[in-house]
Amino acid sequence: MKGIVLAGGSATRLRPVTYITSKQLLLVYDKPMVYYPIKTLVKAGIKDILVIVAPTFSGSFVNLLSMEQQKEKENGQCGDFCGVDFTFKIQLSPRGLSDAFIIGEDFIGDDDVTMILGDNIFLGHDFSKEIQNFKSGAMVFAKEVPDPERFGVVEFDKNMKAVSIEEKPKKPKSNYAVVGLYTYDNKVVKHAKSLKPSSRGEIEITDLNNIYLKENKLKVNTFDGTWADAGTFDSLNDIQNEIRARKSKGEVF
Ligand code: TTP
Repeated sequence: MKGIVLAGGSATRLRPVTYITSKQLLLVYDKPMVYYPIKTLVKAGIKDILVIVAPTFSGSFVNLLSMEQQKEKENGQCGDFCGVDFTFKIQLSPRGLSDAFIIGEDFIGDDDVTMILGDNIFLGHDFSKEIQNFKSGAMVFAKEVPDPERFGVVEFDKNMKAVSIEEKPKKPKSNYAVVGLYTYDNKVVKHAKSLKPSSRGEIEITDLNNIYLKENKLKVNTFDGTWADAGTFDSLNDIQNEIRARKSKGEVF
């Protein structure tokens, strides 16, 4: 299983600070944001990780992650990113989340892949069981939220089997948002290449998930724990407060 952290995008909702730095480099309590999704992958046993970044500030990602690993080596300690093999690629323009699998084609090779969004923070759930037991098709995760119209929304039948997924629907069929952690078999590259841009000009991850759903190969899991899409001032503030509170109670991230 390979891992991709998608950390490009334009971060318009966090301007003006994102004129001068990348969203995923912003401090989330005591760590740069991108550390959290990387650690989610590492905890799930994924050590071969492609980090996709936008051209502006791309060097800062290389500096940050290389320095962290260098420091661990010098101290003779196995820290957060011990044994992680980072690859970096640039996404020239924000063409959509599914572009990760086109940019990542060579990196993915013949393997399965888990992609995590660089601004998604998961606390209190270890995904290693689900990811290590993945066999084929696609696996995504859903969480109940108060504002589903901002996300891909999954509708379940009475057996909690997914029956539809809609991108940012005006009238959501449920409160379950698809979160930014997706596992696919190797066919994802071919499927991503077949996608046409949506009305907002992006190749949508929801369209990719719908290909698997139509083939009856999409598994949608719910999970315990906290999920934050840290891309707005309010969500960023809330997750920082939660991390601070959890740390003060002795929780280690
Ligand atoms: P979004 O939050 O949907 O988009 P954004 O980061 O550009 O922010 P805004 O809506 O405020 O302008 O992106 C989710 C994550 O995916 C985030 O980590 C950025 C990343 N991303 C890319 O790397 N490439 C892309 O083409 C898109 C659309 C997002």
